[in-house]
Amino acid sequence: MSEINLSKRALSLEPSLTLQISAKAKELVSEGRDICNLSAGEPDFDAPKTVIDATSQAIFGGYTKYGPASGDLDLRKAIAKKLQIQNNLNLEFENVMITNGAKQAIYNLFQVLLNDGDEVLIPAPYWLSYPQMVRLAGGKPIFVNSSAEDGFKINIQDLKAKISSRTKFIIINTPNNPTGRVMSKEELLQVAELVRENKNINILSDEIYELILKKDFQHFSLATLASDLQERIFIVNGFAKGWAMTGWRVGYLVGPKHIIKASSALQSQSTSNVCSFVQRGALEALKINHEFFEEINHQYDQRRDLLYEGLKNIKGIFIHKPNGAFYAFPRLPDSSITSVEFCTRILNKYGLVLIPGKVFGDDQCFRISCANSKEKIIDGLTRLQNAINNFY
Ligand SMILES: Cc1ncc(COP(=O)(O)O)c(C=O)c1O
Repeated sequence: MSEINLSKRALSLEPSLTLQISAKAKELVSEGRDICNLSAGEPDFDAPKTVIDATSQAIFGGYTKYGPASGDLDLRKAIAKKLQIQNNLNLEFENVMITNGAKQAIYNLFQVLLNDGDEVLIPAPYWLSYPQMVRLAGGKPIFVNSSAEDGFKINIQDLKAKISSRTKFIIINTPNNPTGRVMSKEELLQVAELVRENKNINILSDEIYELILKKDFQHFSLATLASDLQERIFIVNGFAKGWAMTGWRVGYLVGPKHIIKASSALQSQSTSNVCSFVQRGALEALKINHEFFEEINHQYDQRRDLLYEGLKNIKGIFIHKPNGAFYAFPRLPDSSITSVEFCTRILNKYGLVLIPGKVFGDDQCFRISCANSKEKIIDGLTRLQNAINNFY
């Protein structure tokens, strides 16, 4: 019997290497192997209790029916208020829609704005879903490389050189996954200037790690720095990382009203609304005061430092200091095996789970997470040191 052919869309998707690695790690755990997993892309602490309470009260309070596709009105208003006060943006609730995580915000945006062949400039290293979502919308990802030596700084001349008449978007992600890099005000202003010069280009500003910052570091939102470009800057954010609410699946998209309307229409014909009672939990999350984030950032700072110092001391590894999010993106020795081979070998031989840099657009690096206890980080560093001694 002949097999049913997959659509061109489905064929354009690359199978997830990350899932393959975590499946292998699970298999090794089930065989009784001692595995140290530093691949986490999510906080290792629980969501705030007040959020959990508000969510369960919402279930008993009747928030269990279909809701508006664009999101709970109170939540949209509260997010608009946050953006007015904290980000100094001039907008209303109609500029905001609630999505199933930040992921769906990006997906929706590309679906409603990209036409076949439209180009999206993606500074590398990048979050692995961007190119896939661009392709799913018929667009073409164009990568702009940076290097660990330059601290993964976006080279504005390189970015400029990749602009064509088909360029529709530039993606900005700060703090960055996978490098942990926080973009400076000056760097963002340079990007803004480029967008000012090119009237057809829009910005996707992914700010999901906005709240996870090293002490004395500040997050700058491009829309705040370049208010004249507000109509062309789409902010994507969500509750997953800052509040440890990954499984809640609440994110949001901010943009001009007519585009938010189109994106809501897409949502109404695909996934409908984000879970009604969970959105009430997100509303409560917005009331949490800064002490909560200070405490969490204090813990991340200690872990990030521990990880950075440990990596710095491993001969052959080059590491640019991360200042935000909970990742580091070290580079393997020159003439190394590929990142995929390295991560596969280190998992099989040393039981350490890392993510190959290839999925983030740099095959000489790997991603290591500090969203784990200090003991686990020390354990992981020891395994890494042993592997490097053995492999090189
Ligand atoms: C840079 C970046 N953007 C967006 C997302 C998606 O976040 P969410 O879980 O809210 O869909 C992630 C998740 O890992 C991320 O790292």
